[in-house]
Amino acid sequence: MSHPIVIAIDGTSASGKSTNARKVAKALGYAYVDTGAMYRTLAWHCLQKKVDIDDPKAVSATCRKWKTALECTDGKVHLLVDGYFPDKEIRTEEVTSATSHIAAYPRVREWMKNKQRECIQFGNLVMEGRDIGTNVFPETDFKFYLDACIHERSKRRAAEGLQENLAVRDQRDSQRASAPLMVALGAMVINNSGQTIEETSNIIIEEVQKRRKHQEARG
Ligand code: DC
Repeated sequence: MSHPIVIAIDGTSASGKSTNARKVAKALGYAYVDTGAMYRTLAWHCLQKKVDIDDPKAVSATCRKWKTALECTDGKVHLLVDGYFPDKEIRTEEVTSATSHIAAYPRVREWMKNKQRECIQFGNLVMEGRDIGTNVFPETDFKFYLDACIHERSKRRAAEGLQENLAVRDQRDSQRASAPLMVALGAMVINNSGQTIEETSNIIIEEVQKRRKHQEARG
């Protein structure tokens, strides 16, 4: 059997990664992995357990002891915490803020990388995040980097009813020492300011098909 395909979609906050990744996964019949949700789940778990999120050792010890399992339901991969799948509770402002802190810890990133690579057990994947093409699956030929101007991204967040300082989050994501947000080598960069979701997801799907043909031609 051929090796599963991984489509890596990285990019800034509110650049449309989740919406497009979900659309692409559905169109191609691949499993969808939201790695931001995995980091958020850990932050939520730490807050529940009253772990000091400013203490990298305490957070990485929590990771090591964590009883988690990966599950794929309806084409979406979930990280279960003691059999439970937290959903709405990982989208609060408190969890969002805690997540960008813990996501900077190298040991946490290492733990997440291993878990994210385990997702290959579910077959072909569309995985979105910040370091998928650079760090988690650097070997994949299908890398995309999404961005949009900050004005457009802030409007998208406001439309979701969320007030967020995206400039601060961008800075934290791209300036951390461990696996910072950056364009992966070979990634197609898409600035989708002014594009519809269909336009962006069609660009990705067409590019994947083009690259697959190239791969097949090379044997
Ligand atoms: O995509 P999101 O807003 O759900 O991500 C939540 C936080 O997790 C954000 O601060 C960036 C971080 N993150 C990361 O560092 N690496 C990933 N692969 C995914 C998310």
